[in-house]
Amino acid sequence: MGATDPRPWRARGASSRASMPRLARALLPGLALALLGLAAIPGGGRAAGPIVIRFSHVVAVDTPKGQAAEYVRRRVAELTGGRARVDVFPNGTFYKDQEEIQALQLGKVDLLAPSLSKFGQLGLREFEAFDLPFLFEDEAALRRVTDGPVGRDLLRRLDRKGIVGLAFWDSGFKSFSANRPLRRPEDFQGLRMRIQASGVIDAQMRALGAQPQVLPFPSVFQALQAGVVDGTENPISNFYTQGMHSVQRHLTLTRHGYLGYAVIANRRFWDGLPSDVRAALEQALTEATALANRLARERSEADLEAVRRARTTEVFLPSREERLRFVRALLPVHQAMADRIGRDLLRDIYAATGFDPSAQ
Ligand code: LMR
Repeated sequence: MGATDPRPWRARGASSRASMPRLARALLPGLALALLGLAAIPGGGRAAGPIVIRFSHVVAVDTPKGQAAEYVRRRVAELTGGRARVDVFPNGTFYKDQEEIQALQLGKVDLLAPSLSKFGQLGLREFEAFDLPFLFEDEAALRRVTDGPVGRDLLRRLDRKGIVGLAFWDSGFKSFSANRPLRRPEDFQGLRMRIQASGVIDAQMRALGAQPQVLPFPSVFQALQAGVVDGTENPISNFYTQGMHSVQRHLTLTRHGYLGYAVIANRRFWDGLPSDVRAALEQALTEATALANRLARERSEADLEAVRRARTTEVFLPSREERLRFVRALLPVHQAMADRIGRDLLRDIYAATGFDPSAQ
């Protein structure tokens, strides 16, 4: 880590990309590709080497997703006795948001865990249901969707895109941040807010009077630092591990939305795996799911504590009444997005979660 690196908290994880010289960073994706070209490919390629499974993601290593991916790496090596090897590429070093799903479909990468908000770009807008504000009262309500028939049906819908849906992983519940206090919905008026490429999140920001701006996750820190955008929304683990607390003076703990992932594989890659390796990968993913979800809970508290300790960001916890104002301001998004998501699916999700828009 260079002495001038403005993000010393990055030392906590192995996410040292920010400390690399600019040239090395520019060359990294190409270098990674060249190295991978030398590696064995699943179901074929060089018989002598291990089966190499490429797993790319965009967040820091020390996040629920980053740690779960590391777990898969270790566990697959253990379960297969080294016959298969998972290479993990964190921090968007391999592919960034807009490219990664396409790269998976082309077989350039084997495993991903994109956020559910990013599947709308694939034409699967129903995944954006997870972005609906205040939909999940708590983790139990969320689990009834991800672990129930609705979750299974959603993963199956990936089939027609040449993708196998393997698991849901949590990141956590999101909060808003900016350089001005965000105590009431009116405070968002005119703010340029970074969002993921989701129609539902776009509608959510507009309902608050903000201007949504889609940016890939690995660019968010710099965009906030340079003032290209004024604020954003994140689970605390992403907020902290990206160092956003050093460039955002206010954080409001709204828990207004959920951020989670679908772990997905390229269909041809998956079907081409020897069955024992596929079983080992499945087992590793099942175990990693429990880990990711536990870490999502734990990290949100630990990382919030770390943000408070840094003293760069004022943390505001809305009262029940204050939170209710956000609920009322954002409820119309459900109705406005119902056709985009699909009314039948939405009805099933409400039934599973117990969410009743008329009771809010
Ligand atoms: C985002 O773009 O904000 C998230 O999807 C990043 C992530 O993968 O957690």
